[in-house]
Amino acid sequence: MKKSIVAAAWLLASVAASAQGQVNIICSVQAEWCNMISTVYARTTGTKVNLSMKGSGEALAQLVAERENPKTDVWFGGTGDPHLQAAEQGLSLEYKSPALAQLQPWSQQQAQQSGYRTVGIYSGPLGFGYNTELLAKKKIPAPRSWADLLKPIYKGDIQVANPAASGTAYTMVATLVQLMGEDKAFEYLKALHKNVSQYTRSGTGPIKAVARGETAVSISFVHDGPGEKMNGFPVETITPSEGTGAEIGSMSIIKGARNLDAAKKFYEWALTPAAQEMAAAAKQFQVPSNKAAKVDPRVPDFKKIKFINYDYAKYGASAERKRLIAKWEKEVNSLPH
Ligand code: F6P
Repeated sequence: MKKSIVAAAWLLASVAASAQGQVNIICSVQAEWCNMISTVYARTTGTKVNLSMKGSGEALAQLVAERENPKTDVWFGGTGDPHLQAAEQGLSLEYKSPALAQLQPWSQQQAQQSGYRTVGIYSGPLGFGYNTELLAKKKIPAPRSWADLLKPIYKGDIQVANPAASGTAYTMVATLVQLMGEDKAFEYLKALHKNVSQYTRSGTGPIKAVARGETAVSISFVHDGPGEKMNGFPVETITPSEGTGAEIGSMSIIKGARNLDAAKKFYEWALTPAAQEMAAAAKQFQVPSNKAAKVDPRVPDFKKIKFINYDYAKYGASAERKRLIAKWEKEVNSLPH
């Protein structure tokens, strides 16, 4: 009897799900946040959510590969530069959300710069993460500047992601180029290479390695620090004294999406304050783009950070992103440690 009730409930749930359709999402934020939005959205709307988690650069590569036969409806999150590149390459659909006016100016600017093919959903600054216990044990200070990272005391103790796969690492390359000029930035990256133990695929890999005590220092978005601390790890973050860049984490609807109506509904939901507040509930502390969304006290205070004037249009352009990544592979990653 019990079994047949369960079977009937399951059947009803799946009928409701199919009645509401499905949406295929590539999610480029951390797993806890991806899982939370997909579960809550599926439960509250009856829509079946198919989730695939990929770093920003890898997500873009998948969309390029799927161009003739898109399997993705929405790309949620990940740094803004590859979303702008997707827009330029005609991989995403022009869509003007009625909610645009409720969004922060940087989010609206991202939308405008892409010809309304993407929109900012959050923002956060690039900086360093470090393990306070490991640094104390090694008797070395926390780095305060980009210059500090080149010191021999950090040799083999810094992790950062690979810019071809990770939007975090591409943001670092673009930030340094804007901060120092291209020649000096590449000299810097070559010198940094000597201190880097590993280039990870995922942008959050290095701060997780810091949390686990596998490396002392990471180059990371600082909003990824508090979550590690809440999990009980001795992690602190800092932004470099010379200045730093910030990402505009973005969302795009894919051109040729098979489930276009479902994609638009999900997109509108993801721009609401309630949906955006799920980031902090999943221990992610970016600034939400909806002005009415509550800002958790652990979100980094932008007023206290020295920012460069990041040129999102220039560094989100296809040719520039491809050129800088290829140059990094050739001139930096190929060097011996
Ligand atoms: O989810 C955490 C986060 O730092 C986001 O803020 C950012 O957009 C994303 O990771 C970038 O991931 P990756 O560097 O792997 O592309």
